[in-house]
Amino acid sequence: LDPLHRCVPGSTIGILGGGQLGRMLSMAAAQLGLRTLVYDPQRHGPGFDVATEHMTGRYDDEERLAEFAARVSVVTYEFENVPAETASFLAARRPVRPGPRALAVSQDRLAEKAFFREHGCPVGPFAPVESPDDIRAAIADLGLPAVLKTRRLGYDGKGQAVLRQPDDVDAAWAAIGARSNTTVSAILEAFVPFTTEISVLIARDLDGATAVYDVTENVHREGILRQSSVPAGVTLPVMEVAQGVARSIAGALDYVGVLGVEFFVVGDRVLVNEIAPRVHNSGHWTVDACACSQFENHIRAVAGWPLGPATRHSDATMTNLIGDDWLNWPEILAERGACLHLYGKGQARPGRKMGHVIRLT
Ligand SMILES: Nc1ncnc2c1ncn2[C@@H]1O[C@H](COP(=O)(O)OP(=O)(O)O)[C@@H](O)[C@H]1O
Ligand SMILES: [Mg+2]
Repeated sequence: LDPLHRCVPGSTIGILGGGQLGRMLSMAAAQLGLRTLVYDPQRHGPGFDVATEHMTGRYDDEERLAEFAARVSVVTYEFENVPAETASFLAARRPVRPGPRALAVSQDRLAEKAFFREHGCPVGPFAPVESPDDIRAAIADLGLPAVLKTRRLGYDGKGQAVLRQPDDVDAAWAAIGARSNTTVSAILEAFVPFTTEISVLIARDLDGATAVYDVTENVHREGILRQSSVPAGVTLPVMEVAQGVARSIAGALDYVGVLGVEFFVVGDRVLVNEIAPRVHNSGHWTVDACACSQFENHIRAVAGWPLGPATRHSDATMTNLIGDDWLNWPEILAERGACLHLYGKGQARPGRKMGHVIRLT
């Protein structure tokens, strides 16, 4: 490692999290002659099957974490809920990329929205709430419908409830797992009557150079991403605004790696929804439709290498295979232009992402 901690081929990238994103990051690293060591509290995982090596350990087990750090050149992660203490413990030993600021901002929906506002990024109306009474007060301001979300640990629409009428307050409070007389750190957002949801994947390297992928149009069902397609069905100015916002967020965080930024499009307005300091489900199409995928660019960035082009050579649609959807794998294999990706997960549960298919058009 040089003073900037640029890796050489043969170096080991440490990846926290052994899910499908860790798996696809490991595949990209392998292509570049880099080794991976995946760390996860679970004994099995899609990432373990593919990484060069893997370790099971808790995120608060300092002995295991120290061993992990000693075996890698740099540390990255596949999910944003890496505990802050874990990240700082590792950062004292090896470079952690993306850095702790990106984690702190993306772990807390309130900090995240406040960060967007501070940096001039357009966001919808929101208010912090800690009790049903706070919600009632916030509704007076934000109106209905509104979306109640826990500040921390939500994903795939979990930890969220939509309020349509004033009577929904208590049910929504219960739906996010809160008891009536306890305080919970939550956020109430005005429901955004979006026409489209889009996202931007941006890669930023150690020297601040960026590669921005084409804007992706996303369809969610029950809070879970179902389909992403490029090109997005939005106007060029909307695309340019979204890509500009993604650039300024990455710059403000002095970000290294791939960052996902989700947006709501309301007519010709663009509102930031949330960021993910990692490779993102809505960027999976870059594997089959770009010369250099989001996974490769993330690995390049965290290794301290220059980025590859984010240029797209095909139109593409990515469909998640959720729950039993993956059982159609023989038909998908027989389909022309369909690229099947399965994660090797044993058990399909409702809502569980088992794989995805990218259809090039
Ligand atoms: N304020 C909102 N207005 C309208 N729809 C929303 C709002 N917040 C979330 N949603 C819907 O729920 C999905 C998941 O919410 P999101 O905040 O992205 O959480 P996560 O992806 O972490 O579960 C969004 O992509 C969108 O479809
Ligand atoms: Mg989201």
